[in-house]
Amino acid sequence: MATNGKAENGVTTTTTTGGGGGGAPAPLPQPAKVHHIQHTKLFINNEWLTSSKGRTFPTVNPATGVTICHVQEADQADVDKAVEAAKAAGERGSPWRRMEVSGRGRLLHKLADLIERDRVLLATLETMDTGKPFLQSFFIDLDGSIKTLRYYAGWTDKVHGKTMPVDESFLSFTKHEPIGVCGAVIPWNFPLLMFMWKMAPALSCGNTVIIKPAEQTPLTALYVGALIKEAGFPPGVVNILPGFGPSAGAAVASHMDVDKVAFTGSTEVGQLIKEAAARSNLKRVTLELGGKNPCIVFADSDLQLAVEETQKGAFYNQGQCCTAASRVFVEESVYEEFVRLSTESAKGIVIGDPLDPRTSHGPQIDQQHFDKIMELIESGKKAGAVLECGGKAVEDTGLFIQPTVFSGVQDHMRIAQEEIFGPVQCIFSFKSLREVIDRANSTKYGLVAAVFTRDMDRAMSVSSALEAGTVWVNCYNALHAQTPFGGYKMSGNGRELGEYALAEYTEVKAITIKLNHVL
Ligand code: TAP
Repeated sequence: MATNGKAENGVTTTTTTGGGGGGAPAPLPQPAKVHHIQHTKLFINNEWLTSSKGRTFPTVNPATGVTICHVQEADQADVDKAVEAAKAAGERGSPWRRMEVSGRGRLLHKLADLIERDRVLLATLETMDTGKPFLQSFFIDLDGSIKTLRYYAGWTDKVHGKTMPVDESFLSFTKHEPIGVCGAVIPWNFPLLMFMWKMAPALSCGNTVIIKPAEQTPLTALYVGALIKEAGFPPGVVNILPGFGPSAGAAVASHMDVDKVAFTGSTEVGQLIKEAAARSNLKRVTLELGGKNPCIVFADSDLQLAVEETQKGAFYNQGQCCTAASRVFVEESVYEEFVRLSTESAKGIVIGDPLDPRTSHGPQIDQQHFDKIMELIESGKKAGAVLECGGKAVEDTGLFIQPTVFSGVQDHMRIAQEEIFGPVQCIFSFKSLREVIDRANSTKYGLVAAVFTRDMDRAMSVSSALEAGTVWVNCYNALHAQTPFGGYKMSGNGRELGEYALAEYTEVKAITIKLNHVL
């Protein structure tokens, strides 16, 4: 099926979704042909505005180096304008505050419906802006975004308090109220999904939102601005401000009228955000930061499964994941076989044009990040790790790096300690249970970990001993809207997703009433 059109909701396109019917297997989804990007302005109060300084910046397709378009660049004055709109939208008596809680749920479902309707287009924009393979955008990022919206749509009328039995004659109970204006600073690796992880629980609890997408990847967020308006959210409930971290991002983090900030990105910037929050109005902060995530593969595991899952963890999204499976500890007796199978598997990964549905490995996000990864790969070689495959840029293709496997990695090497955020798998060997737990935990991070074994008793003990916010057993990257996600130690503060995230978007008010008639 092909449709042409210049829609109110964003871009001029030709969209091919694949036909189906007739009992034949459904063809792979195909990307839309995007001819013109329409939404490039700041989205404030349900209007499209130019930036107060009249500045724009380019957003570039990392697979081709071609500028897709220029978008407006927000700075302090634009953040002030958006915060004012968000504050007014959340005030007592406003349409958003007066809306029935089930009405909020219907709006979130409506937005999910619209994203579902425009899924091919959104997946195409995400792939053009990030370089991630199209089918990954289409299935993983879009599925995750839609499911997150629907999950929190279901919570709008279920966020309730408790009654407490108290001493003497009082009735004491709690109410969970919105915090107010919630800022969200988003990274470039999952632009749409991270937007939904923050916006959906915030809106479900009745807050209003200011989003600052990453400078590299503003397009899907801006497109969703049009869908937010089409869904019927009142003006000012969601505001989207493309711009740079040190200006627009910092303005959100330090704003006196922003009541909470949620951030995903580097540990260094997470620290700056927490500091800005403390120095301004002590706004609430949730942080989802880096990881140096351990996977432990025991000799009794299904080795083929362990190879597949750990490689999925290492190379997914070109390794640009906070959950990247970057340290794989393999029990000595199966170590050589594991390295052989992993190397074979890495060599089979299909590198190519991310818009081609057959591609499973695209480019890194930009030159600076590419250089950082290549420098770390060189450091691994120099430190004496064994380069089993990859280790080089793909010739003549700009920002593409071959999936890389290092074996014989030692704990003191930089590739064993620093977050690489690129397609690099580091394999270590271990002898004993106690030893591997100590080594897995000896990092400043604590985001995720994985255990591969057929012995569920051992899986339970190891899961308990690992210092990580998530432990996957015989699987990897198994993320769900229902399950909380977040880090121990320097991987962050607070939790996203699941019921736990609701606590990050509500204030608890205790009301105590004196009772005069005690029977
Ligand atoms: P960051 O600088 O942390 O960028 C994340 C977001 O924070 C972007 O929207 C960025 O804006 C914004 N930001 C930057 N400086 C800020 C400030 N002073 N105040 C408020 N917001 C600010 O990440 P990066 O430079 O893109 O990548 C660097 C490293 O961070 C990567 O190599 C990787 O290790 C890590 N990283 C982690 C994650 C996750 S999921 N944990 C995601 C991305 C990167 P602009 O980029 O628009 O300036």
